[in-house]
Amino acid sequence: MAVQSTVAIAANHAELRAVLEPWRKAGSTIALVPTMGALHEGHLALVREAAAAADKVVVSIFVNPAQFAPQEDFGRYPRTFDSDSEKLERTGAVQLIYAPKAGDMYPKGFATKVSVEGPASGLETDFRPHFFSGVATVVAKLFVQCRPDIAVFGEKDYQQLLVVRRLSRDLDLGVEVIGLPTVREPDGLALSSRNAYLTPESRNVASHLNRILIEVGERARSGVPIPQAEAEGAAALIGAGFDRVDYVAIRDAETLVPLRTLDGPARVLAAARIGSIRLIDNRSV
Ligand code: PAJ
Repeated sequence: MAVQSTVAIAANHAELRAVLEPWRKAGSTIALVPTMGALHEGHLALVREAAAAADKVVVSIFVNPAQFAPQEDFGRYPRTFDSDSEKLERTGAVQLIYAPKAGDMYPKGFATKVSVEGPASGLETDFRPHFFSGVATVVAKLFVQCRPDIAVFGEKDYQQLLVVRRLSRDLDLGVEVIGLPTVREPDGLALSSRNAYLTPESRNVASHLNRILIEVGERARSGVPIPQAEAEGAAALIGAGFDRVDYVAIRDAETLVPLRTLDGPARVLAAARIGSIRLIDNRSV
C-alpha cells in the first residue's frame, strides 16, 4: 500500500527555518532526534518517545564528519536515506527530516569546536580523542538551528547522553535532553547501525557483550571488588572471542567518575573489538 507522504524534508538550514517558523508561531512544542541515519528500531523508539513528548518531531540525518578520525569508517558508514525516510514515514510520528549537507554544516572557513570536559573525560575519549568534540559541535549546531524544547538520545551511547546533557546545560541551550533505554535484539545485542558490518561468526561473538556486562554488574553488587569485576569482564570478553577490549569500567551513573564502592547508582560500560569492528554497550549496575 502506498503511503501518503506526510514528512517534509529540509536539506539546509534555510529550509529548516522555513518549516519551524510557523510551528513556533502557532505555539507548538518541538522535539529533535539527532541521528546519522541507517535507522533501526532503536532510533524509531526515540522517535516515538519524541512524538509522545512534543507536538512536532524533527529527525536529523547527518553523518557527521567531525566525529570520525581519519582512519575510522566515515567513508563506509551506511547511508540509506530512502529507506530511512520510509521508516520514519511509517512511524506516523515525524513531521520533518532535516538532512543537511556537510558543506552546509561546515562551510569553508569553519573553525569552531565545542569541547566538553567532565563526563567527556576518559572511557571513549581514551580511544577516540576527537569524538566528543565532534559530537558536541554538531549537536550544539543542531540545537541552535532547531531550538527544540526537548531532544531524545539513547542510553546505548551512555557517555554521549551525559555529554550532550552537560553541553545543553553549560551553554544555556535550553533543550531538555531525554535519555531512552537501549533497544536490543532477542539475544541481548544492542541494535546499532554498525551491526551491519558483522559476519554471522562475529555476530555470534557480539551477542556475549550484553551478557558479560550483566555478569560484571552482578559480581560487583555481590561484593567482588570493582577492579576485579572489571578485569574479569575484560577476560570474559576475550574468552568469548573478542580480539581486543578497550575498556570494561564501572562508573558513577551521573558523573562517570570511577568508583571505589557501589553506594549509589552505577553503570558498567564497555568497548571491545572484533577485528576492525568496535562495539560499545552499557548496563545499569
Ligand atoms: P546514531 O549512532 O545514529 O544514533 C542516534 C541516536 O540513536 C543516539 O541518541 C543513540 O544513542 C540512539 N541509539 C542508537 N542505537 C540505539 C539502541 N539500540 N537503542 C536506543 N537508542 C539507540 O549517536 C549518533 O548517531 C551521533 O553521535 C549523533 C548524536 C547523531 C551526533 O552526530
